[in-house]
Amino acid sequence: MEKDILVLGIESSCDETAASVVKNGRTVLSNVISSQIDIHKLYGGVVPEIASRKHIERINIVIETALSEAGAKLSDIDAIGVTYGPGLVGALLVGVAEAKAISYAADIPLVGVHHIEGHVSANYIENPDLEPPFLCLIVSGGHTHLVIVKDYGSFEILGRTRDDAAGEAFDKVARAIGLGYPGGPKVDALSKEGNPDAIPFPKAKLEDAPYDFSFSGVKSAVLNYINKVKMSHGEVNRADLAASFQKSVVDTLVEKAMLAAEDHHMDRLAIAGGVAANTTLRAAMKSACGQRGIRFYYPSPVYCTDNGAMIAVAAYYEYKKGVRHGWDLNAVPNLRLGER
Ligand code: KG4
Ligand code: ZN
Repeated sequence: MEKDILVLGIESSCDETAASVVKNGRTVLSNVISSQIDIHKLYGGVVPEIASRKHIERINIVIETALSEAGAKLSDIDAIGVTYGPGLVGALLVGVAEAKAISYAADIPLVGVHHIEGHVSANYIENPDLEPPFLCLIVSGGHTHLVIVKDYGSFEILGRTRDDAAGEAFDKVARAIGLGYPGGPKVDALSKEGNPDAIPFPKAKLEDAPYDFSFSGVKSAVLNYINKVKMSHGEVNRADLAASFQKSVVDTLVEKAMLAAEDHHMDRLAIAGGVAANTTLRAAMKSACGQRGIRFYYPSPVYCTDNGAMIAVAAYYEYKKGVRHGWDLNAVPNLRLGER
């Protein structure tokens, strides 16, 4: 029998300080997440300076807790995976510096992980049968990508957003109707009380690039609608607005994913990133996949938003390929998918 491989995953790219221990790339032994949302929501969004400071305060205890909950000592860990981009540079640096320090002190191999590769890898945790190749829609606060996962850590990018990311659109619309940060979960909840057909918001069509996305149009349409109602001294029905906006975004995501699946003959589709936690998106994608005989994969909500387990899983597959990073590993805030 082969020896188990334990990976410690560290994530600090935005407003979650997270660490996790994962066995053999698929079994989560611990998953500790210290969220900073309560602090940032006072300011309506993530304040980078505060994020870095909070990561510094919490990272040691988060890692210690992840190890103890997993019943593991540092000497049991085979590799340390850490997000080194993309993200907020100061926030990333905290995780990278911590991972390098532990790696050096305890003589454990270091593996830098692309944050988006982490999000995709979240799908491996609860789906032991899922292996590349498959189609993946990545929808987070900073990214919207439609990719073919050709192999572990190897992607063919079919489309991406031209402007706002899907999560960013959710957050901006939520802010415009006074729901606060982060907007996605709040729009998701409020939309259940509204009529998705109440307000016909536009869906962007990009004729030259059928898999690319654009969410600035629907965002502007929402803001214009709010202004128009206010000018005529009316009152915005926030639930109807949330449901109608969400429908426009979800319909677009489902249509493009289905088109890509058909064109590329993919019979498996996964979703990843914070917006993949959206209940309407999950239901709509499940139904569309069901109608076409496509197998649909999605992580539990806790693995959709930022966490250390997804980073440990991605690091495991990179480690198995022989990827090792040195002491020169640095934070790369604008790291592109597919780059090392
Ligand atoms: O993946 P993530 O945790 O961080 C990034 O890598 O960006 O994604 C955060 C984004 C935020 O924009 C948040 O509003 C959105 O995911 N989000 C949701 C939901 N939960 C989180 N959007 C829509 N519906 C949700 N239930
Ligand atoms: Zn993320």
